[in-house]
Amino acid sequence: MRTFIALELPVEFADSIAAMSRSLSSVLEGRFLDRRTYHLTLAFIGEINDTDVSRAMSAMDDACNGISPITLSPDGIGKFGRSSDATLWMGIAKNPELEQLATNVREQLRLAGIEFDAKAFRPHITLARRVNIPNTKLPDLAFPLPEEASKVTLFKSTLSRTGAEYKPLYTVTL
Ligand code: 2AM
Repeated sequence: MRTFIALELPVEFADSIAAMSRSLSSVLEGRFLDRRTYHLTLAFIGEINDTDVSRAMSAMDDACNGISPITLSPDGIGKFGRSSDATLWMGIAKNPELEQLATNVREQLRLAGIEFDAKAFRPHITLARRVNIPNTKLPDLAFPLPEEASKVTLFKSTLSRTGAEYKPLYTVTL
């Protein structure tokens, strides 16, 4: 199955991102994601078998041991890819605790022999895909207030033509 490990967002934080995303969707064309899909990826694993799923769960236990809930602070809007076909996201400010968590998760996966996408950690929450971003100024946005996230979850991702569906398989509470 296709999997990844992510921080789940607190409810109010996700609600206010959804409100902000709605105001973006009134001025930008693209495939805006459902609020229920919002998450902050710590490590993208991809296809693994059931044995490695169990190993990934143990790796998460070890990675989260002694880690407190993490403060999430918005850090602007950004994009991956070309302006005519971009992935649009809200950035999350790096802080030592968040970096430590991502480092621990990746280190424990490495120790467990589980491969993952080792691109540098760039904390973000994807809002929309296939976005056409014109060269004009975006509207003023109401960013969410900082909040604490305390759930680290292994998700199963099922891809379909209408987008991905994410199902939680295992959660560690910080
Ligand atoms: P994205 O939102 O920026 O696309 C599930 O696919 C999650 O893992 C998404 O949040 C996705 O990030 C992230 N991810 C990170 N690296 C990925 C990769 N190589 N392939 C697919 N998704 C990846």
